[in-house]
Amino acid sequence: MDSILVTGNGPLNGQIPIAGAKNACLTLMPATLLSEEPLTLTNAPRLSDIKTMTALLQSLGAEVSSLQDGQVLAMSSHDLTSQTADYEIVRKMRASNLVLGPLLARFGQAVVSLPGGCAIGARPMDLHVEGLEALGAEIELKDGYLHAKAPGGLKGAVHEMRFASVGATENIVMAATLAKGTTVLKNAAREPEIVDLVECLRKMGAQISGEGTSTVEIQGVDRLHGATHQVVTDRIELGTYMLAPAMCGGEVELLGGRMSLVESFAVKLDAAGVHVEETRHGLKVARKNGRVSAVDVVTEPFPGFPTDLQAQMMALMCTAEGTSVLEERIFENRFMHAPELVRMGANIEVHGGTATVTGVERLKGAPVMATDLRASVSLILAGMAAEGETTVSRVYHLDRGYEHVVRKLEGVGAKIERIKGQ
Ligand code: EPZ
Repeated sequence: MDSILVTGNGPLNGQIPIAGAKNACLTLMPATLLSEEPLTLTNAPRLSDIKTMTALLQSLGAEVSSLQDGQVLAMSSHDLTSQTADYEIVRKMRASNLVLGPLLARFGQAVVSLPGGCAIGARPMDLHVEGLEALGAEIELKDGYLHAKAPGGLKGAVHEMRFASVGATENIVMAATLAKGTTVLKNAAREPEIVDLVECLRKMGAQISGEGTSTVEIQGVDRLHGATHQVVTDRIELGTYMLAPAMCGGEVELLGGRMSLVESFAVKLDAAGVHVEETRHGLKVARKNGRVSAVDVVTEPFPGFPTDLQAQMMALMCTAEGTSVLEERIFENRFMHAPELVRMGANIEVHGGTATVTGVERLKGAPVMATDLRASVSLILAGMAAEGETTVSRVYHLDRGYEHVVRKLEGVGAKIERIKGQ
């Protein structure tokens, strides 16, 4: 397994291009299953998760061509041969469960493996099932697979989700586009990736309103047609790289970044003493003065502070002036980066869903281990600001969500290299 060697190397300067959003692309790709006409995505990120979703769609009989070095995905599900998403693929990537709604809507049946747990939590699918059952689906769990059917087609309904789940919102909205009648989904998730999905579905002929608010209304239509859609900028990659100059000093411009994607995060950074300014080409980020100040963080559904930036923010708080309390309210086990940061000299106490970080002057490089996608990049950020060398192992986690991370950080002056594993 490869590792990444980072050496603390002082202030950063320059520009980092931000890619298309992994979590938008992973719901836009299954949308191709809703139509027999081609769907083309541009600005797609080059990530292993996209390759996994490609393999899943191809296992169903869809055609997926990766063009222009992976930035364009040309897809067609005119001749599907299967409606079963196999455990072998789903266990690798939970987002595979996003084929459930589209398959059910178009074919009236789907067999999708439960994803099983992952490092950050149990991650059940009860909210997906409840929503699809509200649309008339009959779903039963057998041998670890959800067997879903809607022989007479799905019917529009009013449904309120118990929690604003991102994936459940995506599955229910996609399914409702082909249901008979109107669906009103209440307590819907409001993430920008959902807004991006709806904009793509609308280009395909779907009748949807309210995206980005807690109530989304969908008028079912008989069929959807093909479209071409540009994947929205990745707000989590954007937020992650905003922390690079915040931790190392200097000034970095994140190309393609927009304040609207990271509002709550930028407010927190400003309070910590990091200046974020919107430019014509993106977001420019620099520390206002020397050391940042500790701020408290509570992760919440959008537009609250994103859980996917919690690990990275913790890395910043490790060397902040004062004590920061980070509360993780979305996942039950998302502090696995904490003990790794402690190995680098951080002062962190974790009690249940709360981590208390007392800032130290500077972290010290050490060998550390990536445990999940976002934890892995928080360790790289910490290593860039630490004294000495840090080796981050198990970087396959990184490849899931950050394209060309070494090249992008080297480009602004980081001392970082990828070490090929044995
Ligand atoms: C999406 O996951 C993202 N993944 C996650 O990003 C992100 O952390 C999460 O939303 C929250 O923002 C993709 O979009 C591919 P949820 P998702 O359903 O849809 C519980 C990353 O690092 N829940 O909003 O799975 C669940 O256990 C990944 O890029 C149920 O209880 O998130 C969790 O505690 C990690 N029952 C909470 O809700 C359900 O049926 C949020 O889950 C569904 C979810």
